[in-house]
Amino acid sequence: DKITAVVPAAGVGSRMAADRPKQYLLVAGKTILEHTIDRLFCHPAIQRVIIAISKTDPYFSALPLATDPRITLVDGGAERADSVFAGLAAIDDENSWVLVHDAARPCLQLSDLERLIATASLSECGAILASPVRDTMKRGFVQSPDKPQGIRETVDRENLWHALTPQMFKVKQLRDSLQHALEQGAVITDEASALEFCGYVPQLVKGRADNLKVTQPEDLALADFYLQQLTK
Ligand code: C5P
Repeated sequence: DKITAVVPAAGVGSRMAADRPKQYLLVAGKTILEHTIDRLFCHPAIQRVIIAISKTDPYFSALPLATDPRITLVDGGAERADSVFAGLAAIDDENSWVLVHDAARPCLQLSDLERLIATASLSECGAILASPVRDTMKRGFVQSPDKPQGIRETVDRENLWHALTPQMFKVKQLRDSLQHALEQGAVITDEASALEFCGYVPQLVKGRADNLKVTQPEDLALADFYLQQLTK
């Protein structure tokens, strides 16, 4: 069955402190966004990608991707969840599956994509790629504004995961969940959190830790290294 992918790419990437949004930085010969889209089209079930970009984005139209007939553009929103919501509105069949993937995750491997799609397709309400937490986890608190945070407690890391993307859900279920969660003012930082807010139980699919979200300047060298390995 065919799966549509929605790629939120309307962020400004302020933590990167670069001259352009991070999805347009060059890594291993191409922009991060181009790598990300290429990775999705590696899977034969993905034949359409909807990209949410900022209304004032001057970069996308210069990419070869801009004329790819498999790609649809929509205007992004103020928050990531708004951009995803806008992307969902461009899908006609609300009973189909949609896969949401961050523009800033260019190192997705086909094997992870295959396992996510296989698991989600058999699930009741979808699944996400995730990687088990490796480090000891601390909850901090502000002792005083001019001091480093103190440690409140150690968070038990058993059953604790990093939520990655792609995340795969039924179009209608994700759209209705996002709408309800946004209306209720819930904090929504990924798609699964909207479904959780509505009482659904998405599944965790163990993915590779090198599926990183390029966020800070030091991530560029890592992404470059992983992409060189992938294309060898
Ligand atoms: O900022 P962060 O790294 O969490 O963004 C994750 C993804 O969401 C990025 O691909 C970014 O471009 C996208 N985004 C968006 N619309 C926003 C904010 C972020 O599409 N308003």
